[in-house]
Amino acid sequence: MTAGIDILCTDLCGLSLRTPVLLAAGTAGTLDEMSDVIDLSRVGGVVTKSITREPREGNATWRLIPTDHGMLNAVGLANIGVEAFVREYGPRVAGVPTVVVGSVSEFSVEGFVAVAGALGEIPGMAGVELNVSCPNVNHGCEFGSDPRLLAELVKEVRRVLPRCRLLVKLSPVVMGVPGVVAVARAAIEPGGSSPTGPNQRPGADALCIANTVPAMVIDVESRRPRLSRGSGGLSGPGIHPIAVKLVHEAYTGVCRDTGTPIVGIGGVLTWQDAAEFILAGASAVEIGTGLFVDPRCPLHVAKGLAGWASRQGVARVQDLTGRLEAPLDPSAR
Ligand SMILES: Cc1cc2nc3c(=O)[nH]c(=O)nc-3n(C[C@H](O)[C@H](O)[C@H](O)COP(=O)(O)O)c2cc1C
Repeated sequence: MTAGIDILCTDLCGLSLRTPVLLAAGTAGTLDEMSDVIDLSRVGGVVTKSITREPREGNATWRLIPTDHGMLNAVGLANIGVEAFVREYGPRVAGVPTVVVGSVSEFSVEGFVAVAGALGEIPGMAGVELNVSCPNVNHGCEFGSDPRLLAELVKEVRRVLPRCRLLVKLSPVVMGVPGVVAVARAAIEPGGSSPTGPNQRPGADALCIANTVPAMVIDVESRRPRLSRGSGGLSGPGIHPIAVKLVHEAYTGVCRDTGTPIVGIGGVLTWQDAAEFILAGASAVEIGTGLFVDPRCPLHVAKGLAGWASRQGVARVQDLTGRLEAPLDPSAR
């Protein structure tokens, strides 16, 4: 192993990542399709397309629109459904040369439990990420914006994941009320349930912060929304500072004290974007829109992080998690 690789090795709730840079759900194919353009053994992990119980066509075109500050999508959870995923992709998971996390989207506790349980049983599946934050379908954010509902969901899903790590992907629309700390706490400490596996936490092993921000673009000539669905989710550079703030709030509010790692998501295109997330409290990052700009972006980001950590005089990038200095005017209210 070279010094460059050592410095990037990251522990994410017991998962050993080669780098702290993963490919985000829904932006890198269903499983490992990105291996055509990038050596997956050089990324920290891949998150699958979000899988639902039944196959879904998703929304009609147009469902992907570039904007000045990122991308607006209303894909609508188009996917092949859990049965076909287990049959067609399941046997390949163990052979993917990086950590694989299966993403789950559903609309009821029973639905989430059924899909998470099935993904969790696939040999080689290291973790399951609950997408409780999709703004592109009706009721896609319901669980992610109500701490009580989220706690109930996490408790039930935890029971069917004795082996896999449980990651919960929060929505950015929790800003204000109920607030990201309340939602994060509900995912981490749902209360009541007894863990089913060794060293298992009662709730989420890690949080992913955040998903796309609900948004709309309008064609002023036709006077119609440009997305067929009307509105969708904004990703990319425009949402990055919002996500950084949410990560920092969750880290200082609950994650640091409970030792719950955070995966920062939103607008990572450069190593500096990833470094901001890490200083704010993230242990790793996921890249989505950046892959559309340059599929090799995760490799450039990881390389840049290694150089940064070395200049900062730490042994590993993860030693910089949460190492944000106080603002210049700490007395500001
Ligand atoms: C085309 C597209 C499809 C997406 N599909 C999913 C999905 O299936 N599940 C999910 O949890 N997030 C999905 N996302 C959200 C991304 O995983 C990520 O959270 C978001 O894009 C913010 O990160 P970014 O700014 O790096 O793109 C999708 C995003 C895009 C752009």
